[in-house]
Amino acid sequence: MYRLLRPLIFRLEPERAHRVTIAALKLMPRRRPPSFDGSLTTSIAGLGFPSPVGLAAGFDKDGEVHGPMLGLGFGFVEVGTVTPQPQTGNPKPRLFRLVEDEAVINRLGFNNRGQAAAVAGLADRDRSRGVIGINIGANKDSADRIADYAAGVRAMAPLADYLTINISSPNTPGLRDLQAGGELVELLAAVGEARIDGVPIFLKVAPDLNSGDHARIIRAAIDGGIDALIVANTTLSRPPLKSRHAKEAGGLSGAPLKLLALDQLRRFRAVSGGKLPLIATGGIASAEDAWARIIAGASLVQLYSALVYHGPGLARRISEGLAAILKREGIASIADAVGTERL
Ligand SMILES: Cc1cc2nc3c(=O)[nH]c(=O)nc-3n(C[C@H](O)[C@H](O)[C@H](O)COP(=O)(O)O)c2cc1C
Repeated sequence: MYRLLRPLIFRLEPERAHRVTIAALKLMPRRRPPSFDGSLTTSIAGLGFPSPVGLAAGFDKDGEVHGPMLGLGFGFVEVGTVTPQPQTGNPKPRLFRLVEDEAVINRLGFNNRGQAAAVAGLADRDRSRGVIGINIGANKDSADRIADYAAGVRAMAPLADYLTINISSPNTPGLRDLQAGGELVELLAAVGEARIDGVPIFLKVAPDLNSGDHARIIRAAIDGGIDALIVANTTLSRPPLKSRHAKEAGGLSGAPLKLLALDQLRRFRAVSGGKLPLIATGGIASAEDAWARIIAGASLVQLYSALVYHGPGLARRISEGLAAILKREGIASIADAVGTERL
């Protein structure tokens, strides 16, 4: 079905295609999330997930379509990034499809309708339908970015199953500096003070890190009470690309990010030794891709860009594929497979 629709969708300017998709999802008849194979049930940070395959942040920025996305077969959905105040983001065009590369470049700059709109979008959610995380960020013109994160935690925690502190968008100038030593410790202290019991907090990092960064981030995350690390956001690097949009500024995601994100995951696993749960994202487009991350140390995976190229049935296909791989390998559950790769 998606193979037939794709050429029509690709005729639309990418941001418009996204808006049309969100509108169509809102019109979709409500359906229950599918039932997953029991071997896919997994838990981290006290949360139970029916499948380890989640929707990455950025698709449902304002919390409008989390229900339909769970209905399509995602094991969990991450809403956001939500900033305290509404924000229009960078000038258009700011979103590019790199079709030949199965990739996306975006420099959206945290366009979102702000906390109040996200609260409205999530207020009436049926918690029995599935796990919803809320990814929070700082406004571009904020005088105190750390205070923005603390405000985000306070406002969004009552509606979230987990929160993600996003310090890894390349499109808000200076944001990634929060990953540096002292500032990260300070940020996590402020977040720790604002948090409420029973809502785990994840930290999302960039894939563009230097060799010393991994140990430092793991130490700060564990000391700061972070419950899991999401590896990774989009990259500013440019692996070889074919598309005419290759030189656009912004964060690159999709297939060309795959090896870099896997390499970063392995580095985090090596320095954390399994002490901090890891969530993998970046270029995952198949069950084999998801499996490679799981055995490299990820307890959960997330995807976004591959949806553009493979359509809305992808999450379900990956879950089914993972269940088949577990069977093939004679492994009883996802948790038993995490970090079992032999290098
Ligand atoms: C159009 C677009 C918008 C995104 N917006 C956000 C965002 O608001 N917050 C965030 O943490 N990540 C955002 N991301 C990054 C994704 O969550 C994900 O980390 C990254 O795209 C790598 O996964 P993928 O290769 O499966 O897309 C965005 C990605 C894309 C393509």
